[in-house]
Amino acid sequence: MPGDMTRSPAQDWNASSYAKNARFVADLATDVFSLLGPCPGERILDLGCGDGVLTQRLQGIGVDALGVDSSPDLIEAARKSGVKAQVGDGQNLHFDQEFDAVFSNAALHWMRDSAAVIDGVYRALKPGGRFVAECGGAGNVKTIVAAIDRILSQRGYPGLVGNPWVFADAREYRALLESRGFEVLEIGLHERPTRLPGDVGGWLDTFADSFLRVLPFADRRPARDAVVNALRPEICDRGGVWWADYVRLRFSARRP
Ligand code: BEZ
Repeated sequence: MPGDMTRSPAQDWNASSYAKNARFVADLATDVFSLLGPCPGERILDLGCGDGVLTQRLQGIGVDALGVDSSPDLIEAARKSGVKAQVGDGQNLHFDQEFDAVFSNAALHWMRDSAAVIDGVYRALKPGGRFVAECGGAGNVKTIVAAIDRILSQRGYPGLVGNPWVFADAREYRALLESRGFEVLEIGLHERPTRLPGDVGGWLDTFADSFLRVLPFADRRPARDAVVNALRPEICDRGGVWWADYVRLRFSARRP
């Protein structure tokens, strides 16, 4: 979830587009959810909660869950679903030893100042509390990023100036967690080709809009369609199913 906000300020989050094109994000959170191992009665912060689907899942098992996200539109959707949620910047958290765990799914790669995030999470945790998360890791969506780069470069624009993401390597993220006081219990990168709910165009509209903002407005749609066409032979299979080359960074760490 990035810039100075939990999700990129360059990114407009829209709850209905998120529900249509990003529902799979929560559906694929099984591994990180079991790594968290939430217990009834625990107080858990869901950092970058989006529209609150996983916050709701935590609440459903008796966790006292709070969702935080920088997008007012997504927070409104989360609240409508009946969870406690507030707008907040993941790089500037103000909680003080309140949580048994901080959980985050598919959000940390939007927060460019990883050290500030980790410091805020550390402060938010009770001693012994855990930080369990999954996000995009090194090499994530590299086929898609390369296609965007090519299409923008062909049009005379440096392709990646609008890149809102930081995809960390496991070693470098472990070192960062340890340097900010965490004990790392496990951390690793996992390739996870991810089936998209439609064509990659919907994914680009929902997640990668900021790359195309360097273009004059009238050129954005044709460029977006050119990225879709460039990617078709690479990530659309014979059955017409589109696959994004996701690589996940998943970890569990503990505040001593
Ligand atoms: C991810 O979950 O890896 C991701 C989501 C949106 C944009 C880029 C990556």
